[in-house]
Amino acid sequence: MDHDDFRQWAHRAADWSADYLDSLGDLPVRAQVAPGAVFRQVPDDPPAAPEPMEAIFADLDRVVMPGITHWQHPRFFAYFPANASPPSIIAEQVTAAIAAQCMLWQTSPAATELETRMIDWLRRMIGLPDAFSGVIQDSASGATLAALLTARERALDFRGNRDGLAGGPIMRIYASAQVHSSVDKAVRIAGFGDANLVRIPVQGSLFSMDPAALEAAIVADQEAGRIPAAIVAALGGTSIGACDDIAAVAAVARRHGVFLHVDAAWAGSAMICPEFRHLMRGAEEVDSFVFNPHKWLFTNFDCSAHFIRDPKALTDTLGIRPPFLRTLGQEGFVDYNEWSIPLGRRFRALKLWFVIRAYGVERLRDMVRAHVAWAGELAERFGQTPDFEVVTPPILSLFTFRYAPADTSEEQRDRLNAALVERVNQDGRIYLTQTQHEGRFVIRFQAGATTTTREDVLTTLNVVRELADNLRAASPDEPVAIAAE
Ligand SMILES: Cc1ncc(COP(=O)(O)O)c(C=O)c1O
Repeated sequence: MDHDDFRQWAHRAADWSADYLDSLGDLPVRAQVAPGAVFRQVPDDPPAAPEPMEAIFADLDRVVMPGITHWQHPRFFAYFPANASPPSIIAEQVTAAIAAQCMLWQTSPAATELETRMIDWLRRMIGLPDAFSGVIQDSASGATLAALLTARERALDFRGNRDGLAGGPIMRIYASAQVHSSVDKAVRIAGFGDANLVRIPVQGSLFSMDPAALEAAIVADQEAGRIPAAIVAALGGTSIGACDDIAAVAAVARRHGVFLHVDAAWAGSAMICPEFRHLMRGAEEVDSFVFNPHKWLFTNFDCSAHFIRDPKALTDTLGIRPPFLRTLGQEGFVDYNEWSIPLGRRFRALKLWFVIRAYGVERLRDMVRAHVAWAGELAERFGQTPDFEVVTPPILSLFTFRYAPADTSEEQRDRLNAALVERVNQDGRIYLTQTQHEGRFVIRFQAGATTTTREDVLTTLNVVRELADNLRAASPDEPVAIAAE
C-alpha cells in the first residue's frame, strides 16, 4: 500500500468510524453471536497473495462486527466503562502513524516529556500533592504488579532481585476481599504466594477495610516473624465500588512501615471533581496510587496513571540498564522503561493531551458528575419500584440491585436474577453484568460511557421491569432453571 492508497483508506476508516459511532445506539449492546461463529468464518490458512482492501473492509462488516460487544454504546452499563472519545480516537490514529517506541528518552523525547507533563496534569486534576511523580502504565494490573514488586524489594532491602526469594522470609500482603483480582495475580507473580494474601474484613456503608483488624493482622505477622510487605487499598472496588478509608489505612501503614498501594482504577477519574475527593482522603500519605483514564476519563485503552512517592524505589526494582539501552551524551532525562514491566512502550501521553485539551477539565468534570447523578437517580427509582431492591447503594456511578418478589425464596431470587440478566443481555437494548454480594446474586449497574444520556440511564428500569415481568409470566411457580454461578 503506497501513501496515496493509505490516504484513501485512512479517510475511509475515518468515515467508517464516524458512521459506526453514529449507529451505536441502534445496535444490540452485547454481541449476539454464538461461541465459534466468528472463528469459523476466518479461513484456516492465511492468504498467500495480497487481498484488496475493499474485500478486507467488507469482511470487517460481515465477519467481525456481528461479534463485537459495543463498549462505546450509550447503554453499556456492564463491568466498568472502557471509554473512548473522538479526540482520543484521533490521537490514537496519529499515534499509530508515528508508531514510536517510547522506552527511552532518546527513542522519542517528546513522548517522554509529554508523559511527564500529562502525569503532572492528572496529578493536579485529582488533587494529589507534588510529592508524587508518575508514569503511564499499560494497565492497572501492570501498575499494581510494579507496586507490589517495589514493596517486595523494599521489604527485602533490595536483596530479592539479587538473591531470589528461595529460603527467604515469608512476606505478607493485606487487602480486603473487595479488591480486584489483579491484586491476587500480582501477589502470585511477585512471588508472595496466594497463602500470604491476608484478607481483612470490611465494615460500614463503603465496605471499607477494618483498620483495627488490619493492624492486628500486621502485628500478629510481625510477632510470628513474617514481614508485612504491602497493603493494597481499594478506591472503588470492582464488585460494588468498595472504598477503603485511605487515611485510616495509611496511619496503620505508617506506624508499621508498610508500603501502601491504592487501586483506584475506575473511581480515580471521579477524583477530578472536588466534591468526590472525600473518598480519597489520606491519599497524600500513600506510596503508590493508580487510576485508569482508559476507564472513565474518555481516553482509549490503554492508559493507566500510576503515581509513586519514591520513584527511585520503583526504578531500583524494575530498572535494568544494559549498554545497548544507554542514551549517550545527555543528562537530566527519564527512561520510562525503568518504571514499567515491559520495555517497549506506546506513546500513550498523546491521547491524554488531546482529550484534556479538547474537553478542558471543567467539561470532563461535568461528564463524570452527570454519570454519578443519573446513576443515583436510577437507583432511587429502583428503590421505589415494587419487587425490586437496591442491594448496595450508589458509590459514585455504581450500584447493585435485584429482582426480589415477596413470594420468592433467596435461592429462587438468585436463579431469577441470573435469568433476568441473561434475558436483558439477549434483548440487547442495555448491557448489565452481575456479581455476588454477601453470598447472593445481584445485578450491577454503572454509567460511564462518553455518549450516555440521562434518558439512556433511566431506560434501564423500563427494560429490566418489562423483562422481569415476562420472566415471571413464563414460569410463575419455579422461576427459572439457570444456576446463579
Ligand atoms: C478496581 C479495578 N482494579 C483493576 C482493574 C484491572 O484494570 P486493568 O484492565 O487496567 O488491568 C479493574 C478492571 O476493571 C478494576 O475494576
